[in-house]
Parts: sequence; C-alpha cells; structure tokens
Amino acid sequence: MVLPKCRYISVVFFAFVVLLINNGVEAFHKVYPHLQSVSTISVSGQHRTAYHFQPPKNWINDPNGPMYYKGIYHLFYQYNPKGSVWGNIVWAHSVSKDLINWRSLEHALYPSKPFDKFGCWSGSATIVPGKGPVILYTGVVDDKQTQVQCYAIPEDLNDPLLQKWVKPDKFNPILVANKGVNGSAFRDPTTAWLSKDGHWKILVGSRKNLTGIAYLYRSKDFMNWVQAKHPIHSKGATGMWECPDFYPVLLRGNAGLETSEEGNHVKYVFKNSLDITRFDYYTVGTYFKDKDRYVPDNTSEDGWGGLRYDYGNFYASKSFFDPSKNRRILWGWANESDTKEDDVRKGWAGIQAIPRTVWLDSTGRQLVQWPVEELNNLRGKEVNMNSQKLQMGDYVEVKGITAAQADVEVTFSFASLDKAETYDPKWVNAQDLCALKGSKLQGGVGPFGLLTLASQNFEEFTPVFFRIFKGPDKHVVLLCSDARSSSLKSSMYKPSFAGFVDVDLATKRKLSLRSLIDHSVVESFGEGGKTNILSRVYPQLAVANQAQLFVFNNGTEPISVENLKAWSMNPADIK
Ligand SMILES: *[C@@H]1O[C@H](CO)[C@@H](O)[C@H](O)[C@H]1NC(C)=O
Ligand SMILES: *[C@@H]1O[C@H](CO)[C@@H](O)[C@H](O)[C@H]1NC(C)=O
Ligand SMILES: *[C@@H]1O[C@H](CO)[C@@H](O)[C@H](O)[C@H]1NC(C)=O
Ligand SMILES: *[C@@H]1O[C@H](CO)[C@@H](O)[C@H](O)[C@H]1NC(C)=O
Ligand SMILES: *[C@@H]1O[C@H](CO)[C@@H](O)[C@H](O)[C@H]1NC(C)=O
Repeated sequence: MVLPKCRYISVVFFAFVVLLINNGVEAFHKVYPHLQSVSTISVSGQHRTAYHFQPPKNWINDPNGPMYYKGIYHLFYQYNPKGSVWGNIVWAHSVSKDLINWRSLEHALYPSKPFDKFGCWSGSATIVPGKGPVILYTGVVDDKQTQVQCYAIPEDLNDPLLQKWVKPDKFNPILVANKGVNGSAFRDPTTAWLSKDGHWKILVGSRKNLTGIAYLYRSKDFMNWVQAKHPIHSKGATGMWECPDFYPVLLRGNAGLETSEEGNHVKYVFKNSLDITRFDYYTVGTYFKDKDRYVPDNTSEDGWGGLRYDYGNFYASKSFFDPSKNRRILWGWANESDTKEDDVRKGWAGIQAIPRTVWLDSTGRQLVQWPVEELNNLRGKEVNMNSQKLQMGDYVEVKGITAAQADVEVTFSFASLDKAETYDPKWVNAQDLCALKGSKLQGGVGPFGLLTLASQNFEEFTPVFFRIFKGPDKHVVLLCSDARSSSLKSSMYKPSFAGFVDVDLATKRKLSLRSLIDHSVVESFGEGGKTNILSRVYPQLAVANQAQLFVFNNGTEPISVENLKAWSMNPADIK
C-alpha cells in the first residue's frame, strides 16, 4: 500500500543506479487533500475500459486478498468511496464466477476500530483448513501513519459470497512493530503458508533506511505471531518493499501450486513492489526452510535491474492459488497516466490488469504469464491475416474488428538476422533504449509489430514492437510499448515502456505478441508471456470507431506476419 510524495533528491549509487530518496517521508501515494473527498458528479465513459476490471466510479489501487472460496472468486481492492484520487481507503469487494464478469458487494473492511482507525491498507487472504478464510491487512492507528497488522474473518462461513467481515477485538492487532522495526514502514502481510513443522508463516514488507526488508513471522494458531530472528530476505539500496509475495512454482509444467506446497519439485518466487521506482520486481530462487531464508538464484538479479512482472503500469500485485483449475493467478493494479485534474474530471482512476496465469518458464530463469483462459469467452468477431509480407515502411491494416476493444495474437517471422543492428553493451536500460530508437527510426531486424490505437492520419498511435540487436555473444531482443505518440494531449505521462526478451533466436526466427486493447489500455504479452508491458493511453482522436489497428515494419529486413488472429471483444459484465 501506499503516502505523500515530498521533495526528491537524487543520489548516484553506482554506475547505472540513480536512487531517488525521499527526504524523510515515504514515497507512497501522492496526497491531494483538497481532492480526496471531491465527490464524483459525473463519470466520463470515453476512456473507460470495457473488459478490464474497474468499479463504476472513483479511485482504486492495490488488489487485495484474492481467493477462490466455495465456487466463487473474490477480489478486494483499495478504494476511495469519496473521490477519484487516493484517500479515505476501504477494502471494496467484488465477486465473480469466471474472473471476468464481476458483481460488487458491500465494502468488506473500512476504518472502524482503534487498530485501523486511520486506514485499512493492503493485505492478503489465507484459507485456513478447518477455519475458513482469514484476511490479514495493515491497520493504520494514528495520523503519524503507524502501521500494525490486523485480521478479519467472515461473519458467515456458509455464505459463498462472504458478504460480511468482522474484526474481532480478541488478538487484534495481531502484530505491532517490535523494537528495531520501523512502525511507519511496516505493511502488506502476505498469504500465510503452513510448514511441515506445524507453523504458519507470513511476511510483512518494510525498510531500514534504504534497505528493503521482508520480515518473517511464525504462528501455531494463526493468532499469536512471533518475529523470526532474521528477515526471510533483504536487499540494500532498494527502499521500501511494499506488497511482498512469496510462493512456490513447479520446476516443470504450468500448473500452479498451493502456497504451502514444498518438495524437490518446486522453486520459489519472491516479489516485492519497490516504492521508489513503483514497479514490481521478482526473483526466482531457493527457500531454505530450516533457516527460513530465501536466496535468489544467480540467474535472477536482485534489485532494480531485475526481472519485472510487467515493464509498464503494473504495481502492488498479488497472486493466489486457484484450486478449481490448478493454477496460480496474478492480479496487478494499473494506475492512470492522466493528470489528477483529469482523473477528477473523468470521475475514476485506476484499473486492474487482466488476471494472469503464472508459471515457471522451462529455462527456470523467469516466469511466464498469460491472460486467464476465461477472457477468451469475450471474443466476438474474428479476422485473420496469414503470410503477409512487410517490407520496410509497410503498414497493413487489420480491418473488420473494433480496434479500440480487441484481442490480437500474432506471430512474426524473418529469414535472417544478418541485418540486426549492433548492440551497445551500455544499453542496459530497456526503457531508455526504446526512447533512443523507438519505432520511427529505421532499423535492421525491426522495429516491427502492432500499431494500436492509431488515428486516421496517424496523429496518434501506440506501437508495440520488437527490435533485434546483435550482441557480443547473442542476439538481444527488445519489446517496446511506446506511448510517446499515443495522444495529442501533452500534459500527461507517456513513457516508452520496454523490456528485454530472454529468447534464443539461434534456433528459431520467430517472435510472438498478444495485445489486449481496451480504450485506454494496451496490455501486451511478448513471446508467449515472457516479457509483458501494460500501457495506459488516452488518445483524443483514436477513440471508439475512429481507432485503427495495423501491423508494421520499419526495418530493412522483410518481416512476415505468419499468422494473425484478432477479435472484437465483447464488454465484460462488471457492476
Ligand atoms: C521509517 O519509515 C518512515 C516512513 O517510511 C521513514 O520516513 C523513515 O526514514 C524510516 N526510518 C528508517 C530508519 O528507515
Ligand atoms: C539509518 O537510520 C538510523 C535511524 O534513523 C540512523 O541512526 C542511521 O545513521 C542510518 N544509517 C544510515 C547508513 O543512513
Ligand atoms: C550459478 O549457480 C549454479 C548452481 O545453482 C552454478 O552451477 C553456477 O556455476 C553458478 N554460476 C555463477 C556465474 O556463479
Ligand atoms: C502512476 O502514474 C504516474 C504518472 O502519473 C507514475 O509516475 C507513477 O509511478 C505510476 N505508478 C504508480 C504505481 O503509482
Ligand atoms: C516508420 O518510420 C517512418 C519514417 O521514419 C515514420 O514516419 C513512421 O511513423 C514509423 N512508424 C512507426 C509505427 O513508428
């Protein structure tokens, strides 16, 4: 979860790391006291999403406590009932049978007790065998942002909708910061796991100066918790660790695992949301249970240069195990790139990304993510393109679908890599490289890809594309989702989001891409979900029926669209 952004000073740490530190105050959400309770008078439909989750109005942020219980998926999320900027936060609650169509219920948690009087912030749900679901969340006890961990339980375990939640006085709060733990940087408890020794374990995110920390707590009864002597993991120069997530993944195969599963067939994923950069980073590694320590593999960089779930607007994510389909599902919050004033004018801010199934890639080095299969039920009219050659400078329109509300899957191929541009080892930051090269500058192999949300005369467009470089020992593949030309509006955030794709082009000359286009979102999955980028964009001309979709190539190597399928998407039923 998230506070006031004050003055930033930048400090050069080492070669590529520029750390932004806050002068004493946590970065958190920027606070706009004058806007927090400006109630929403009207809701603008123009850029609202048709199938990405968003409530009818107001501000949302972190997904909280996702779970599957008695045939129903539950999604809670941080919500401002009074306006469209952060503030007055409660846990809103929606339920679904398919993760796509949602009904909202009464707010599950809102400030009502001394231990959460100043806020009910993020947390997780654990289904405790024999007891049912238990929510662990962060309560704020005073106006100095002192944080404690609290629990809530359903009033009626027989109600599959879990409509009412109670916060018992007994045992609450279950955790206060011990001596040595920073009580104003102490939040976002994880889902608990049960170890073979009979202890429940959870993590809580924190920091000590600039060292990010995940403290570990143990309990026999889920109510009395004791802090372990050392954190499960920590890392210098990373700042506050928000929303930690820790779970096992299968070494082979894409089935998900229950959070308590252990054995030689699993590896672990450790994720935290770095408050300073506001992206979600993860490592793959080993959990040494006897010592309760997590050690990232040497193939997983630990810190700002590390792997991200998503290289765009995607933060404070949380995963859960879905026993009905044996999969692990990841939810992430995608914030606005619009100005606060425009958020207030629109009457809403924030969406949830499409829930993604996650599993370990066969290389063991990274995760793979893919939109849950239920999304395909919204696919309507389909169009195809096959064996379409694209010479340099070619644009071919994908006609016959609603281009502003679509799902596109495409495979590109090329005969040779000879023309690939030379990679400069200085280019370690994908986003900077995308800014440097973009889609307009002629390349060798690439830039090629999709041109989404393009206006009639190309005044606006959001290209999602690959660009391939020849590195010293292998090819380097860049995936960009470049919002710089996405809108004629100038006063907004239009980054050239990008990530590298870990793929071996020595054996195959193909790259695949899927983009979910939904009015103000372009959510893309590169190479089967290895590198993913969600961009929020607000075109002024490329809206509704005025938006167009193309495939393009701006590199000298001819590209073939081997196969493209695109669908008009029906709206999800979200009330
Ligand atoms: C404790 O947390 C607060 C809020 O994030 C921060 O301002 C302060 O610098 C932290 N203190 C230490 C020692 O990390
Ligand atoms: C970390 O914070 C503590 C407590 O505020 C302070 O005494 C110490 O000097 C800080 N250490 C560094 C390296 O900044
Ligand atoms: C990384 O770890 C593996 C064992 O897990 C080891 O075989 C390999 O040599 C290590 N590589 C480096 C560069 O340290
Ligand atoms: C949200 O949007 C702003 C741009 O308006 C961006 O700078 C910020 O880091 C974003 N992400 C989060 C998680 O707040
Ligand atoms: C391709 O390059 C041309 C020439 O620089 C440019 O006008 C056009 O916008 C580029 N296409 C994309 C999708 O960037």
